[in-house]
Amino acid sequence: MAFPTETVYGLGAHALDPEAVERIFEVKDRPETHPLIVHVGDIEVAMQWSDPWSEEAQRLAEHFWPGPLTLIVPRNSRLPAEVTGGLETVGLRMPSHPVGMALLRRADLPVAAPSANPHQHLSPTRAEHVVHGLGERVDMVIDGGATDVGIESTVLSLCEDVPTILRPGAIGRDHLASLLDSVAWADDAVPDPETRRPSPGMSARHYAPETRVRLAAEVEDVVELDDSGAIGWLLLDGSSEFEPRAGDVVERLPSEPASYAAGLYAALHNLDRASCTRIVVQSPPRHEGWRAVWNRLERASTPGR
Ligand code: TXA
Ligand code: MG
Repeated sequence: MAFPTETVYGLGAHALDPEAVERIFEVKDRPETHPLIVHVGDIEVAMQWSDPWSEEAQRLAEHFWPGPLTLIVPRNSRLPAEVTGGLETVGLRMPSHPVGMALLRRADLPVAAPSANPHQHLSPTRAEHVVHGLGERVDMVIDGGATDVGIESTVLSLCEDVPTILRPGAIGRDHLASLLDSVAWADDAVPDPETRRPSPGMSARHYAPETRVRLAAEVEDVVELDDSGAIGWLLLDGSSEFEPRAGDVVERLPSEPASYAAGLYAALHNLDRASCTRIVVQSPPRHEGWRAVWNRLERASTPGR
C-alpha cells in the first residue's frame, strides 16, 4: 500500500512480517541488500526497534520528529533481517504528513517503506506518480495530495564515529549541528559506484527520469549548439529572457531551495512524459542551502542504470 509522507510517497508494509517486506522488494524491483526505512507513529515504537536507543537519538527525535529526518541506529535483533538488507543498523523515521501519521498511529506498528517508485526512478510526490510508476503492482494508493517537502528525508547515521549525513535533505547540517557536537558528510560529491558506500541505496544513478538529463549553467548555449529535437527545460524563475524553441516544453521552479525542492520531482515527472529527446536543467546556485537539490540533480543526470 502506498501512502503520503511530507517528503515523498512511501510503499509501506508491516515491518515485522517478512513476506510483506519481501513484496516491497518485488514490487519495486529493488536489490535485497538495500535497507528500508522503518516508519513509526511514536518515539516509543522507534525505541523498541533500536538497541541501544541513545540519548543522542532521543534528543534528535524529540526535536525533529515528526519531520523529514531518518536516524540510522543499531537495530534490535528481533527486527527481521530482510528489512535492513542484513545490516546491523536500522533507519527510523516519523513522518509529519497528517495522513501518513494517522495511518501509523492507527496501525500502531513499525511500517517499512521505501519511496513508492520503481528502483532508480524518480520518487513520487503525488498519488498519480505512484499509479504511473507502479500501476497494478500496488494494491492501494492513499491520495493525500502533493507532498510539501518534495525530496526524500535527510538520512543521519548515529553509527559512525561522528554523526554523519548519508543523504542530504530538507533538514540541513547547520540545523542538526545545533543539537550535536559535530556533524560530518558521508560524501562531497556523487559517489563512485565502484567504491564501497556507507549507505547502500546511495548509488550514483537514482531519482532519475527515463529521459536523459543534462545540467547546464548557460542554457542559451545549449539552444545554440543543439538542434536534435524537442528539449524539456527545467528553468529557474527569473530567467524569463530565455527563449525556448518551438516544440520545446518548459517547467519553471522558484529560485529558493525549499520551494524548488517541493516542485522538483513533479516538474521532472512532467518533462519525462512530454516526449522530449532530453531534459536540460538550468543549474541552481552552488550554495550550501541548495546541497540537497544538487545531490538529486547530479544523480538524475548520471548516465546509465
Ligand atoms: O523521505 C523518505 O525517507 C522516504 C519516505 C517514504 O519516508 N523514504 C525513502 O526511502 O526515501 P528509500 O528506501 O527510497 O531510501 C532510503 C535511504 C536509502 O538511501 C538507504 O540506503 C538509506 O535510506 N538507509 C536505510 N536504512 C539504512 C541503514 N540501516 N544504513 C544506512 N542507510 C540506510
Ligand atoms: Mg527511494
